[in-house]
Amino acid sequence: MVSPDIKSEVRDRNDIVDIISSYVSLKKHGNNYTGLCPFHNEKTPSFSVNQRDQYFYCFGCHAGGDVFTFLQKYENMTFPEALKVLAERAGVTLPEVEMTEEMKRNLSRKNRIFEALKAAENFFYQQLRSERGELGRRYFASRQLTEETLHKFHLGYSLQYSDALITYLRNKGFSDDIILDAGLAGFSEREGMYDKFTNRVMFPIYDAGNKVIGFGGRVMGDGNPKYLNSPETSFFEKRKNLYGLQLARSSKAKQFILCEGYMDVISMHQAGFGQAVASLGTAFTPEQAMLLKRFGKDIYLAYDSDGAGTDAALRAISILRQTGMVARVISMQPYKDPDEFIKNLGAEEYQKRIDEAENGFMFEIRILRRQYRTDDPAEKTKFENEIAKKLCVFSEELERDNYLNAVAEQYGISKDSLKKRVISEAAREGLKTAQERVQLKPVNAERKSNAEEHAKYAQRLLLTWLNEDKDCFARVREYIAPEDFTDPLYQKIATRMFADLEAGVFRPVEIIGMFDELEEQEAASRVFQTRLSSEVAKEDKEKALRDIVLRVKQESFDQASGKLGSDVSALNRVVEGKHILEKLRRIDRI
Ligand code: UTP
Ligand code: MN
Repeated sequence: MVSPDIKSEVRDRNDIVDIISSYVSLKKHGNNYTGLCPFHNEKTPSFSVNQRDQYFYCFGCHAGGDVFTFLQKYENMTFPEALKVLAERAGVTLPEVEMTEEMKRNLSRKNRIFEALKAAENFFYQQLRSERGELGRRYFASRQLTEETLHKFHLGYSLQYSDALITYLRNKGFSDDIILDAGLAGFSEREGMYDKFTNRVMFPIYDAGNKVIGFGGRVMGDGNPKYLNSPETSFFEKRKNLYGLQLARSSKAKQFILCEGYMDVISMHQAGFGQAVASLGTAFTPEQAMLLKRFGKDIYLAYDSDGAGTDAALRAISILRQTGMVARVISMQPYKDPDEFIKNLGAEEYQKRIDEAENGFMFEIRILRRQYRTDDPAEKTKFENEIAKKLCVFSEELERDNYLNAVAEQYGISKDSLKKRVISEAAREGLKTAQERVQLKPVNAERKSNAEEHAKYAQRLLLTWLNEDKDCFARVREYIAPEDFTDPLYQKIATRMFADLEAGVFRPVEIIGMFDELEEQEAASRVFQTRLSSEVAKEDKEKALRDIVLRVKQESFDQASGKLGSDVSALNRVVEGKHILEKLRRIDRI
């Protein structure tokens, strides 16, 4: 779609270190920059950015690629979006994109859907303020929302008639298809198209960039469902968005407050807590955690004080921990939710609760404690064992010790005995998982994948070697052709790499950029980022090269032999391979 030249130009004009360091704090380390990987949770840096070759790679989770890959992964952009951002940044004018008819249709369709959603937002907003919006206005008044708040959240009202919005949108020129795909109307054989939302107060839902992507509608009075939400689509993904984030992202507060519902968020903002967000009628997800993590703040939970709210908080704490974020829990006792609390005790009192919020881990232990009668010695032992198990989630000793000390103090447990339990628990767990691993895998599958992995490993190592030591290319070329790389991805890399090395224009980043799929870009980055010194014993490097070449050739030969009947080109590979293998076996270096 875009010419390789343009792609290279845009890439060359955006230093990858500049771009990545605006998201990740990087330290210079020789030729590379390193930092904490933004794509997985870690405490010691394994994320590395290679400035000379302009790509990044994480030794922990193997994420990797060029500057485009980074933006695609980090900002969740498509390639064309990343290209556009970087071209603008560097002042490169992109040629009119040559899109296929289908792409044009899809793009304009998507834009049209967003336009329909925007128009619907306006319609609901107007209706709330019209004569017929009396019911909605009364509802919001009963919730004590101010005009300013209604405007800030663009709250609206959907009429009792079942085709008011459809008629409005049709008059604006939207086709029935678009209205249906935007999730604004339903269809039944008997009635035809009908408004999805009727007689509800309407909460437009925005993405972090302030674009309307859907709606939640609350029924007037008691009806079912209480909240009706837009259906899940490719542009309205509930697990990837948060209600209120378009506003909360610019809050000065040093934390986000995660609440359960739309009304919680709204009344908190109205009370001056502009850092409140909520998930969209589903449980909090790891995607939402990652989304919040970018802002580098802690997350405070303001879930309902009931059993369901507590369960939801426990799940959120665990997700946040896995994402490497600190969670705290705000107590709303004796009230049910932030809305009730603030209405009764006021914002000042709520701020106190924020300041006193309980550490997520301590909250977990306190909830756990309820299951045991600690006046019974047997139960107390069980409780302490459970604590020890939980402490094992902290892999860093200092952090674990801090929690251990805090828990021991609070519950009157001996620190030493708790520590002993943690150690034995950690040892036992380790043993258990190792055993499981051995028993669960069927023997055959393991063998096959082992052989495959072995072959792949040799191929990858050879590519890594060529990248690091370009002088040996001429020698390797005598024995190995790109076709000898039996792994499809490595074969693609080898084909381009051999051609580029022959022409003297080899650059790793160009090869990474050949691939459309992020996984492929990652695999390619891994090839170029791996350091031989860490993979190959130094003593006899030359001999090692010969061994690797032999292994790659052997695998290629074996594969070709297996295809003799079905593939003509295999014959050549076998005949030639046989010679080369004999030669390789006679020498001990190439
Ligand atoms: P709640 O029932 O606690 O609603 O659901 P609320 O926000 O406190 O609303 P009011 O104050 O009773 O009007 C919490 C959240 O769960 C989702 C909504 O996102 C809601 O804000 N929800 C709830 C649904 O999606 N559907 C439902 O039927 C109910
Ligand atoms: Mn609620």
